[in-house]
Amino acid sequence: MTIITRRTFLAAGAAGFVASATGGAYAGVVEPTMMLGVTTYELTPPGWPDDLLLNVAVISDVHVNEPYTPMSRVKRIVEIANGLKPDMIVHLGDHEATHRFVKRRVPPREWAAAYADLAAPLGLWTVLGNHDWWNNSREIRRALDDAHIRVLENEAELLEHGARRFWIAGLGDQIAYRLGRGSFHGRDDLPGTLAQIRTDDPVLMLAHEPDIFAEMPPRVSLTLSGHTHGGQVYIPGLPAPWIPSGYGDRYRYGHIVEDGRHLIVSGGIGMSGLPIRFGVPPEVLMVRLGRPIAAA
Ligand SMILES: [Fe+2]
Repeated sequence: MTIITRRTFLAAGAAGFVASATGGAYAGVVEPTMMLGVTTYELTPPGWPDDLLLNVAVISDVHVNEPYTPMSRVKRIVEIANGLKPDMIVHLGDHEATHRFVKRRVPPREWAAAYADLAAPLGLWTVLGNHDWWNNSREIRRALDDAHIRVLENEAELLEHGARRFWIAGLGDQIAYRLGRGSFHGRDDLPGTLAQIRTDDPVLMLAHEPDIFAEMPPRVSLTLSGHTHGGQVYIPGLPAPWIPSGYGDRYRYGHIVEDGRHLIVSGGIGMSGLPIRFGVPPEVLMVRLGRPIAAA
């Protein structure tokens, strides 16, 4: 006997909608290629001084390719990020797409040149994602370097902002090399990166995959990650069918606090696997750190 619960009924209904002509057009065209919003987070995590006001625009998982995330989309991302007037801009990796629906790979020098138009006093910082390593990481790295976009590969740098200082750190990709049968070898070196942090100033960490957060020490005030695309297909109240994380739903999306440690996972912009999005609209994040003093 099959017992149909309300949950399985909803799941079947949602799956049916995505498979329908209307749902397919929404998931295949409207949400992934026409929608692009801004999600704002305001927080002062432990170790971050109240008076260190830092606005960070966060771009992630753009997965540039034709026809799904073409250069016109990249230029729109740049417009939106610049319009937020951030102090700094970070890109959390997966610049490129590797799925089999890509019709044309956009040369890295093209999209890197567009990102060079991003404007922020503290500059643009990035890490590489797994799809960057699986495509052509050398060419991608060269294009980013030529466009003067700072790539953090297990590195940390101390930045000055007003009267304060903070560390920006970035990890190598955690699943950079595919070993087959679902196993990977990473380039991440968390201890080596943390060893470069020589002062008491707060730390902002960029890590493409969020799984490393499980071992992130409280010395890091905030970790920013992407990679999961929020599941890419997500229906509230139901388990996401696909989350590329060893922790399942735990680091799927949003602001996660564990033992006083803070992680924000962006849903990103592009797609991997299948060129669809449903229930996780593409987004640029605006992360506002510190506490503005209220006017008297
Ligand atoms: Fe990724």
